[in-house]
Amino acid sequence: MKITIQANSGEFSFECEASERILYAGLGQGLRLPYECATGTCGTCRGRVVEGSALVEWDEAPGYAKLKRAKGDVLMCQARPGGDCILRVPANLSPADPSSATLPRHRQGRIARAHRLVPDVIEIDVALSQPITFDAGQFVVLEVPGVRGGRAYLMVNYHRDSERVTLVIKQKPGGGFSDWLFGSDVVGAKIDLFGPLGAATFRPAEGRGILCIAGGSGIAGMLAILEHARCENYFREHEGHVYFGVRGLTDGFYLRELASHIAAAGGKLRVTLALSHEPAPSQVHPQFPDIRLATGMVTDVVSREMAGRYDGTVSFIAGPTPMVDEALRLLLRVARQPAAFVRYDKYT
Ligand SMILES: Cc1cc2nc3c(=O)[nH]c(=O)nc-3n(C[C@H](O)[C@H](O)[C@H](O)COP(=O)(O)OP(=O)(O)OC[C@H]3O[C@@H](n4cnc5c(N)ncnc54)[C@H](O)[C@@H]3O)c2cc1C
Ligand code: FES
Repeated sequence: MKITIQANSGEFSFECEASERILYAGLGQGLRLPYECATGTCGTCRGRVVEGSALVEWDEAPGYAKLKRAKGDVLMCQARPGGDCILRVPANLSPADPSSATLPRHRQGRIARAHRLVPDVIEIDVALSQPITFDAGQFVVLEVPGVRGGRAYLMVNYHRDSERVTLVIKQKPGGGFSDWLFGSDVVGAKIDLFGPLGAATFRPAEGRGILCIAGGSGIAGMLAILEHARCENYFREHEGHVYFGVRGLTDGFYLRELASHIAAAGGKLRVTLALSHEPAPSQVHPQFPDIRLATGMVTDVVSREMAGRYDGTVSFIAGPTPMVDEALRLLLRVARQPAAFVRYDKYT
């Protein structure tokens, strides 16, 4: 089926199978359509059907809150074509390089390993049918039989042409994917994976200091960024600051990996575990003394410790929406950092 997009910057068209989501088909064919979550919650992928029809997959998607459905607005990440159709997308679009190795597409995968890091966080390795190349800080959307809709997860590992992705998932009580993952033995389960997606990526050529602010499993993409920075010897020239917010000392995970990145960075990387629900028992972690401890919400700790030190940095933020919104307020409004150097993923 032919999809035509009327954007502020001109008209673009691409093919979309009846079973495919319009956003995914467009991105996969190299059109930079607007999106953030790719899973129905943020509303960024708004398009208005002006001719033809689109079938809405998830009627109650929170992303519809700001859309005018009576006027034909759809979330392109939740809509499949009902035939050829024309959508108006109020954005300046540009085509991506169609030969780019990071254009997203569907791959089949199988859960090769599942490992509980702390009681409510599981790390999984997904072995892929075909290798994937992605930038540090990107995510994929997973779909599993029996759970309606897709779920977005950031890659923890970083390799070009990787035959596996490592993901880390925090349990959401009553959540569809959480119940499936935490409630059964999922090793061997088949998964559909679409990606890579996301623009909150580390670009070493920018040559700026790095500030990472993570809440809970938001640390996932930060580990990929640290891995890429390490491969590039990035911390020989630049500083890095990682603030990782968890509730209590025993909720911290990936501490061994973080300590190893600190050791490799020769004094240029500082990692702080911020405890929001209990006072820090000491200034450094009892088991990993290179990791500093602080008391308070992670954004409050950043505000206290980073004041006057933001210039020349690129910031990455990931985690629950209220934490990301507060970090954005701090960086954009208080510290007046340029939006181009503040990148985020909201777990809406
Ligand atoms: C860009 C991004 C990156 C993320 N990265 C991570 C990560 O690395 N680790 C992590 O733990 N979490 C991450 N999340 C959150 C994650 O995607 C899930 O929201 C979370 O794991 C809860 O999923 P659940 O199925 O347990 O909960 P649920 O409440 O069942 O579902 C949560 C989400 O699933 C989708 N959904 C639910 N029902 C439907 C339906 N009927 N049809 C279609 N879609 C539906 C919606 O997007 C909804 O917000 C990320 C989110 C985003 C947007
Ligand atoms: S990108 Fe479609 S709702 Fe977020």
